[in-house]
Amino acid sequence: MDKLVVQGGRTLRGEIEVSGAKNSALPALAACLLTSETVHLAGIPDVRDLITMRQLLEHTGATIKPVNGHLEVTTPSIVNPEAPYELVKTMRASSLILGPLVARCGTARVSMPGGCAIGARPIDLHLMGLERLGATIRQEHGYIEASAPQGLRGGRIYFDTITVTGTEDLMMAAVLADGESILENAAREPEVVDLADLLTKMGAEIEGAGTSVIRIRGVKSLRGATHRIIPDRIEAGTYAIAAAITGGDLVISNCRPDHLGALIHKLWQAGVHIQEVGRDSIRATATGAFRSQDMSTEEYPGFPTDLQAQYMALMTQVEGITIIRETIFENRYMHVQELVRMGANIRIDGREAIVAGSRKLTGAPVIASDLRASASLLLAAMAASGETVIDRVYHLDRGYERIEEKLAGVGALVERVS
Ligand code: EPZ
Repeated sequence: MDKLVVQGGRTLRGEIEVSGAKNSALPALAACLLTSETVHLAGIPDVRDLITMRQLLEHTGATIKPVNGHLEVTTPSIVNPEAPYELVKTMRASSLILGPLVARCGTARVSMPGGCAIGARPIDLHLMGLERLGATIRQEHGYIEASAPQGLRGGRIYFDTITVTGTEDLMMAAVLADGESILENAAREPEVVDLADLLTKMGAEIEGAGTSVIRIRGVKSLRGATHRIIPDRIEAGTYAIAAAITGGDLVISNCRPDHLGALIHKLWQAGVHIQEVGRDSIRATATGAFRSQDMSTEEYPGFPTDLQAQYMALMTQVEGITIIRETIFENRYMHVQELVRMGANIRIDGREAIVAGSRKLTGAPVIASDLRASASLLLAAMAASGETVIDRVYHLDRGYERIEEKLAGVGALVERVS
């Protein structure tokens, strides 16, 4: 099990490049199951979750060929419409193949994902939506069996809770359904829009992606396409906070400033100087005069829950009290106790974390618990004095491509030890 050893106190300066978005690449790969023709995907990040998704696709009958930096995915037919427990238990986003499998071959058997560190994370809304499109759902022995032998038919789906992969799963189910479907209270994340762009290139008829109401007219079949995945806004946001927390100055390239509005606004308010550099870069410069800024996570375009832990690490360094409210997941404070071990003063009260800032952090041995908590600990370690050893960095490897190389390239003292 790898660890990261970090010597804190270094200021980050220079240019750092963002990879393709993990949370866009996952549904894009799942969408390849919807056609027997070849789909070319560029910008797929080399992170663990995508290796898992590739294994899942190959298990169902897809062949995946890396061709000069992008993936060629061809699924001549679905030979095994199932997602086995041993793969699903390592990645809950496996439920993204549920919709495509039912749409493509009328049946799917997907392991229930089970809980995870940040919450129960059920997939009841995915199943509700499939039933609204005419599938019958059975659950037994820890597996979901969805079937629609006569194919899916268009329907109206209302999401009680906004769900990102729920919206994506059902968009992929609806594109081959007979008739029109409407998804109401849909997620508006850029990754949903990116998936709709890919599906449209494949011949789907979708309107309203990026808004709360998505209309889909089913078509008979989809064709192959070529698509580049959008840059990872969460990786970009993590590096902007890294510049701030180390008192540094970073140009973050290959990103989409228009996907980072809430973070850029919040960092400006907190005293971080952020400017857009062209259409695909931002420059984050610490000004030394930080102010504490309360924050509440919201669905897009609000402040992303996936940047909450990283933002909290920054707020331990600023004067005053910061109230952080996590409204999306019920247990996304696993990083708090580890930050406290490094000297932070944070108290949890229900959904809120109260951060008493301007605390000097000192390096310590810490343990990562989930993907974004690991990023938070890495940011704190770079700001702390002394050495931090972060254990279980496989969590980090799920969603950040070569993060220690990228950070070392702009001055961080971080190395991976097995
Ligand atoms: C996606 O997860 C992301 N993952 C998460 O990123 C992200 O934190 C989350 O959206 C919120 O933005 C991928 O896109 C692969 P949700 P998802 O369904 O779709 C409840 C990361 O770090 N809910 O939008 O699983 C759920 O419990 C990961 O990259 C139901 O109740 O999240 C949560 O409270 C972590 N029933 C809320 O909705 C359902 O059927 C939002 O979850 C589905 C969700």
